[in-house]
Amino acid sequence: MAPFVFTLATLAASAMAFECTREYLQETADRYVDLMATGQHDRFENLAYDMKYMENNKTASILNGVPAFGMTIDAKRSILDTTQCKTMTEIIVTQPPHPYVIHTQMTLNADGNVNLIDSIVTDKGDWAFNATGTKYWNSIESWDPIPEDQRDSRKVVKAGGKAYADRCNDVSVHVPFGTPCARLEGGAYTGRGNLSANTCDIGGLPEHIPMTNRKYVVDEVMGVVDIFMGFTGLDRTRNTEGAPDSHMFRIENGKIRYIHTASACFVDGCGMNGTGPPPQLRRHRSLRYLE
Ligand SMILES: *[C@@H]1O[C@H](CO)[C@@H](O)[C@H](O)[C@H]1NC(C)=O
Ligand SMILES: *[C@@H]1O[C@H](CO)[C@@H](O)[C@H](O)[C@H]1NC(C)=O
Ligand SMILES: *[C@@H]1O[C@H](CO)[C@@H](O)[C@H](O)[C@H]1NC(C)=O
Ligand SMILES: *[C@@H]1O[C@H](CO)[C@@H](O)[C@H](O)[C@H]1NC(C)=O
Repeated sequence: MAPFVFTLATLAASAMAFECTREYLQETADRYVDLMATGQHDRFENLAYDMKYMENNKTASILNGVPAFGMTIDAKRSILDTTQCKTMTEIIVTQPPHPYVIHTQMTLNADGNVNLIDSIVTDKGDWAFNATGTKYWNSIESWDPIPEDQRDSRKVVKAGGKAYADRCNDVSVHVPFGTPCARLEGGAYTGRGNLSANTCDIGGLPEHIPMTNRKYVVDEVMGVVDIFMGFTGLDRTRNTEGAPDSHMFRIENGKIRYIHTASACFVDGCGMNGTGPPPQLRRHRSLRYLE
């Protein structure tokens, strides 16, 4: 009798093997949002024992980093990558005394447990930071799932974001900007003058700036690709280093519709002595890239 029982148990175990579905990733992303809202990590059921937490590219602890506090979340958006078994979540917090805009990528292991929470945490003093502005411009945008018959392939979605990142270093790269297109960078919105125009292709993009160490999360259903990368020299106090940065792209019909960025400075103001970034975001950027 014993071998028979053993076989049944083995079958049951393999039938329950972890499958990385959208539903599972959505639940996991929701647990992350709950963690950020409550500060209670014990409710996060699928955290791996060896989970690593990174905050702005430095190893940190969820026990004393931003996940420990609990915050009032004004807006959130998660994208799900079943191919890589990763999630990415954008969180906007405007409540005083400490507003935040946070982009987080999470990686799950083969058992379905989160073994990496990688966060770009931006607040006052970071590039163009204005959570009230971010919340407002985000609220007028539409990031609904793409209807099935209009979805781009994973390859096309990823290529849209990759082209933008590549273009920062190689000006000959063609970036598929759509019309309309708008970039939300901290609280600065390129679409504010004309919401129906292509305001992403307005010049002033970085030139000869390598975007290094890229980590992608791609969601074909949402038409979104998020890239974590090192934005070389964004912080003038460390000109040759990559500042922790996230660029999130919404792709519709193969073209970029929206861009959201979260860029952390090493020192408040990115070493620009209060001269930038906005309101003259583009001007300051162009000037420094020409130097
Ligand atoms: C932040 O953005 C809001 C909404 O666009 C704007 O009213 C406010 O003046 C901005 N604050 C700063 C400090 O730029
Ligand atoms: C906004 O952009 C659209 C498309 O480029 C253009 O047709 C329209 O005239 C612009 N409107 C304003 C007020 O500039
Ligand atoms: C993060 O740190 C590593 C070294 O610890 C470095 O290679 C990388 O460029 C840094 N920046 C980003 C954004 O990954
Ligand atoms: C900022 O101010 C310091 C001290 O006055 C100066 O050394 C530095 O060159 C300035 N940096 C920029 C980017 O203007």
